[in-house]
Amino acid sequence: MPKTLLHATNIAHSFDYELFSNIDFTLKEQQSIAIVGRSGSGKSTLMHIFSSFIKPNEGSVTLLEKDVYALSEEKVEELRRNDLGIIFQAHYLFKGMTALMNVEIATLLSNQNIDNELLERLEIKELMHQKIGELSGGQQQRVSIARVLSKKPKIIFADEPTGNLDKETAKLVMDVLLEYIKKENAGLILVTHDEEMAQLCDKSFKLEQQALKEM
Ligand SMILES: Nc1ncnc2c1ncn2[C@@H]1O[C@H](COP(=O)(O)OP(=O)(O)OP(=O)(O)O)[C@@H](O)[C@H]1O
Ligand SMILES: [Mg+2]
Repeated sequence: MPKTLLHATNIAHSFDYELFSNIDFTLKEQQSIAIVGRSGSGKSTLMHIFSSFIKPNEGSVTLLEKDVYALSEEKVEELRRNDLGIIFQAHYLFKGMTALMNVEIATLLSNQNIDNELLERLEIKELMHQKIGELSGGQQQRVSIARVLSKKPKIIFADEPTGNLDKETAKLVMDVLLEYIKKENAGLILVTHDEEMAQLCDKSFKLEQQALKEM
């Protein structure tokens, strides 16, 4: 039986107005789930709630059997460092360092080794000695994905990971993410505007009218 990686119950959140309410969501090992919806519908906010960064107004989030908004700051940090892989729109690579150093920092912090196969698969192996500032936007994006996967997280939260990639490279990144979750028994939540990318996942949900509906 695949284990549950993430379980969210009865989530509600508002900023100036109510973004959503009554959201229930479950992610299991080896499962990939896409979330689509119009700009401003609250997808990124929901990802932040699921991934330990925003405490919702209502409801609870369990990550790897831990009630995440009841944990100490220290335990949350530990969970983020070892088990969560966050691929968000803005990627925070260290600009003055090489691509390799950026990946090494993540592997050192999480006690893992650099996965050369992964670098090859993402077609960035040959440019690991270049400084981040010397790489194209799409190359930087793939370095940041390599950095996230190198720490071998159990749950990957990807918010528009293929946003500024050409179709072919986007498909490559999706394939890498989907292969990763099968191989490592992990799970993927993907926010995307791209229907084609969403269809590659096991399930898709649409966030609209304050609710998450399965498509
Ligand atoms: N920290 C915040 N404080 C106040 N309002 C916020 C905050 N974060 C998001 N919002 C508002 O919540 C709404 C949803 O934002 P969110 O970023 O979740 O949308 P989204 O579905 O990810 O959109 P996009 O597809 O454009 O990325 C927006 O109206 C936004 O202005
Ligand atoms: Mg967003």
